[in-house]
Amino acid sequence: MNRNFIFVFILLTTLSIVNSIPFNKRKADFFPCRQVINPILGVDVTITPDPPVSKTPEHFTVSGTLKHNITANKTLLNIEYFDNLRFVSLITPYNKKFNESVKAGTKFSIDVDNVPTPELPSFYDIHVTVGEKPDKNGDLQDEFGCSRSDFST
Ligand SMILES: *[C@@H]1O[C@H](CO)[C@@H](O)[C@H](O)[C@H]1NC(C)=O
Ligand SMILES: *[C@@H]1O[C@H](CO)[C@@H](O)[C@H](O)[C@H]1NC(C)=O
Ligand SMILES: *[C@@H]1O[C@H](CO)[C@@H](O)[C@H](O)[C@H]1NC(C)=O
Repeated sequence: MNRNFIFVFILLTTLSIVNSIPFNKRKADFFPCRQVINPILGVDVTITPDPPVSKTPEHFTVSGTLKHNITANKTLLNIEYFDNLRFVSLITPYNKKFNESVKAGTKFSIDVDNVPTPELPSFYDIHVTVGEKPDKNGDLQDEFGCSRSDFST
């Protein structure tokens, strides 16, 4: 009896470890949104808390060096949450205008606080884009740089 119990315990522990491997991407790991077709420069992204927590405002620090001028009051930082199973946006994109101009080829850095976090599904993506010309959905039509990270809850 005792021995069986230990065996079952070890089996369950092993299964839970094996099971957790494909679901390991709990922390942010941002990489350029497109590297092959129509590639785009990446941006460096740090988030707090990491991983995000449903309905808890998120802090983003985004920096990088782009090939486009960043224009104060025009260029936007865009943050989107996507459901990876249903291929839909989870929340209206967050857009914040830069308040300082940065010349192409010069490092920029922007901090935004209180970015709303939706109710997070099992598998989702965060896309962080710098660009211009938001369409009616709030997606940027001119992208200067973009990075994304996958998450699982
Ligand atoms: C950036 O703006 C400067 C003027 O401030 C202009 O000379 C330059 O061509 C612009 N660069 C790009 C990549 O648009
Ligand atoms: C950006 O807009 C604000 C308010 O609309 C204004 O006070 C500020 O001067 C503008 N900055 C630039 C660089 O145009
Ligand atoms: C832009 O905003 C940051 C913080 O959000 C602030 O520290 C900085 O002084 C602002 N710059 C201008 C030109 O308003």
